[in-house]
Amino acid sequence: MKKKFAKVVLSNRPDLCEYQCNGAMAAAKAYKKKPIDIANAVVEQLTGEHANPVFSEVVAVMPGFINLKLSEGFLADYMNGMAADEKLGLGEPEKKETIIVDFGGANVAKPLHVGHLRSAVIGESVKRMGRFLGHNVIGDVHLGDWGLQMGLIIEELRDRKPELPYFDENYTGEYPAEAPFTISELEEIYPAASGKSKVDEAFKERAHQATLKLQKGYPPFRAIWKHIMNVSVADLKKNYSNLNVDFDLWKGESDAEPYIQKMIDTLEAQGLVHEARRLVVDVAEESDTKEIPPCLIRKSDGASLYATSDLATIVEREEDFKPDRYIYVVDKRQAMHFEQVFRVAKKAGIVKPETQMVFLGFGTMNGKDGKPFKTREGGV
Ligand code: ARG
Repeated sequence: MKKKFAKVVLSNRPDLCEYQCNGAMAAAKAYKKKPIDIANAVVEQLTGEHANPVFSEVVAVMPGFINLKLSEGFLADYMNGMAADEKLGLGEPEKKETIIVDFGGANVAKPLHVGHLRSAVIGESVKRMGRFLGHNVIGDVHLGDWGLQMGLIIEELRDRKPELPYFDENYTGEYPAEAPFTISELEEIYPAASGKSKVDEAFKERAHQATLKLQKGYPPFRAIWKHIMNVSVADLKKNYSNLNVDFDLWKGESDAEPYIQKMIDTLEAQGLVHEARRLVVDVAEESDTKEIPPCLIRKSDGASLYATSDLATIVEREEDFKPDRYIYVVDKRQAMHFEQVFRVAKKAGIVKPETQMVFLGFGTMNGKDGKPFKTREGGV
């Protein structure tokens, strides 16, 4: 009998049996026999003198179903075998993959919130499962350490402590080794500065300029940034460790900075970039069912965007690990961002065509107002 007829499926009558085979009905046509005769012939093979020990019961029922029950002895042996095996009976993967799991995603100088908790817990689970399956899995926290929050903190600090040497343009000495704030002060400075930027346009512009200066390497701001990193990352490490969440890499957006130019050169060499002052890549495809807007790579003033650092990070990861698969564990509101980034990476050949780029989005945790929590407003 042909194999295709021998398909065994979970029973849709669990009160009668555990598994069933409906192949006799289809085979009836091919063999020009009655389904029940075929079913009976199969049952005969599996029972009687040379009964298959896997089954405790094999019966044919009209019009030609075969109902199957597993023997308890077989099940017990099978399960005992699994329990005794270090990997619960799991074999080696067909192809051992190198997988980057980008999860955690905490933002430096902002308190961890429940969304990050989800990314941490789901990402940690994905990482452990991947390892259990036998893959080479690398977990990266990918800190948000290069954005506007840095400029906001720097300018807020200037307003509060203008006497600090970082704000004296003529200062030539060494910058203090000790941070000008504690973690609790830092956690208060950020929401305060963020609130201020919403009502004070000039302050917002200063913060933007400060971020830009930091990204371009202005030494006093780099020095403040280092303090922010030290204070905040120490706290994050403690929190993640309490959660039993572990990262192989403590990299962040800032680590991608040295790869930005290379990434942009690649895009330009491929003729993918258009618009003179901003850098834009079209990513729409004919098969799209919804609009996928072009991906903004860089602003006219040279400021890095979220996509800039994610693409440059892919360049970095390709150089370091050549991953077969990328898994990003981030809340689902960022789905479009990742769709755009993945498309640019593929289009520009930053990753191989067969590299799997996976966005593992999860839902948001909402406050009493039914809207996602916002750290910018504090209180989370
Ligand atoms: N820091 C980001 C956030 O809080 C998450 C980072 C996710 N990873 C990434 N490669 N973009 O929203």
